[in-house]
Amino acid sequence: MIFYFLMTPIILFVNMLLLIALCKIFCILVLLPILLIKWRKFYSKKREERQQTGTVVGIFHPYCNAGGGGERVLWAAVHAIQTKYPDIHIAIYTGDLDADPEKILSQTEKTFNMKLQPNIEFVYLHGRKWVEASTYPYFTLLGQSLGSVYLGIEALNNLTPDIYIDTMGYAFTYPLFKYIGGCLVGSYTHYPTISTDMLKYVYRRIAAYNNRRIIARNPLLSGGKFLYYKLFAYLYGLVGSCADIVIVNSSWTEEHINTIWKCPLKTHRVYPPCSVEHLIGLPLLSDEEKNKCIRIIAIAQFRPEKNHPLMLRAMFELRSILKEEVWEKVKLVCIGSCRDAEDERRVKDMQDLAKHLALDKNVEFKLNVPYSELVSEIQKGTIGLHTMWNEHFGIGIVECMAAGLIMVAHSSGGPRADIIETRMGSVNGFLAEDEMEYAKVIASIIQMPPKVRNAIRIAARSSVNRFSCEIFEKEFLRAIEPFFRSKQE
Ligand SMILES: *[C@@H]1O[C@H](CO)[C@@H](O)[C@H](O)[C@H]1NC(C)=O
Repeated sequence: MIFYFLMTPIILFVNMLLLIALCKIFCILVLLPILLIKWRKFYSKKREERQQTGTVVGIFHPYCNAGGGGERVLWAAVHAIQTKYPDIHIAIYTGDLDADPEKILSQTEKTFNMKLQPNIEFVYLHGRKWVEASTYPYFTLLGQSLGSVYLGIEALNNLTPDIYIDTMGYAFTYPLFKYIGGCLVGSYTHYPTISTDMLKYVYRRIAAYNNRRIIARNPLLSGGKFLYYKLFAYLYGLVGSCADIVIVNSSWTEEHINTIWKCPLKTHRVYPPCSVEHLIGLPLLSDEEKNKCIRIIAIAQFRPEKNHPLMLRAMFELRSILKEEVWEKVKLVCIGSCRDAEDERRVKDMQDLAKHLALDKNVEFKLNVPYSELVSEIQKGTIGLHTMWNEHFGIGIVECMAAGLIMVAHSSGGPRADIIETRMGSVNGFLAEDEMEYAKVIASIIQMPPKVRNAIRIAARSSVNRFSCEIFEKEFLRAIEPFFRSKQE
């Protein structure tokens, strides 16, 4: 008897649990898909009722008026599409509420010297604060990513495109546009939102820009953060691989995107446009015109990662290799901007170190020089020096090569992977790692016959053509061509 009294509530309880579980399964398997299908239908209807009848390309770039390197990519991409497909309607989703279309286009013309057709539609988004880092003091990555989905929904509601291209790396919008919006999705990624390096910092408990000291110190917090990052990286891979075409800006980004998104077959590497054309057009001065002086030009901000001390130590070694009369003609010119008191202190330290190594007659510092002077310094130079370890790319190296310097760059990161070629027959510059190697390479350049030196300069110039606007547009169009092929069928 007692047994039955006990059993009844247990059975009731189990029944309740089963009922709840069934409800949940019903919701997930039936209601959710129905809602999603309805939602998708809503947008395909919106697309049919759209006033623009032809193909619409929607480009997601909430900060399109910022005038930085990412915007140069955006406008060059727009220019490329306008030129190749004049009938296509281009819309740009932007959050620059204070800038009207004429203002944005005239600003673009001024900043990038790029003339665009004015038939671009600007779709203004009001929810941009949801993708700003300052909105989320904690769980910033996740917050910004979910915020971008919200912004994406606002974009879809305003205009449903046929082809969606994100040029700012908001990967969490891809499944939304692909599965709900029914668009073809293309991505141009400059920088992975989360990289394996960031995971490493948290795992090894190193304090870094993405890892506060208090978290690095505490094993429990570090463990939690590592799990959060792991989960985020997993989600990032999931959403990122929804894109139909992935374009990355360099080998460095490609490597990281490949490890997280895992879709190398649809990933293309297209270098962003650098304005090298006018530098390539500059005349090359001969040794006589340079008064037989050998100027080594180092263009770098006075930041610790740029590693100015390595330059000075290399000069010190160089002195012991060269004959005294040659050494007298060698000068290292450090050009850079000084942004604050800390930078100034570093310049002072460098000058002290130069004195200490007895190099002060052969080293010159030029701070905050205007662009025209910078160009004339490069023209007077023979060798360009770069010493930063693991630079992601190195636009400065490309510009120096375009202007005619023979570059000696650090043998790591972008300079090694993307820019400098040292194989016999196609040498366009040199790589080095420590002061002895730098000194040897510089000495060998100084001792080269002028003819050989000139051949390298010319090879360097023609090799950086692959970073020009023209090549960017060609490669970009080639990567996204499948979108237009399937649209025209
Ligand atoms: C790719 O984008 C990142 C982030 O903007 C930048 O640091 C890097 O230099 C870019 N690479 C190239 C090749 O411009």
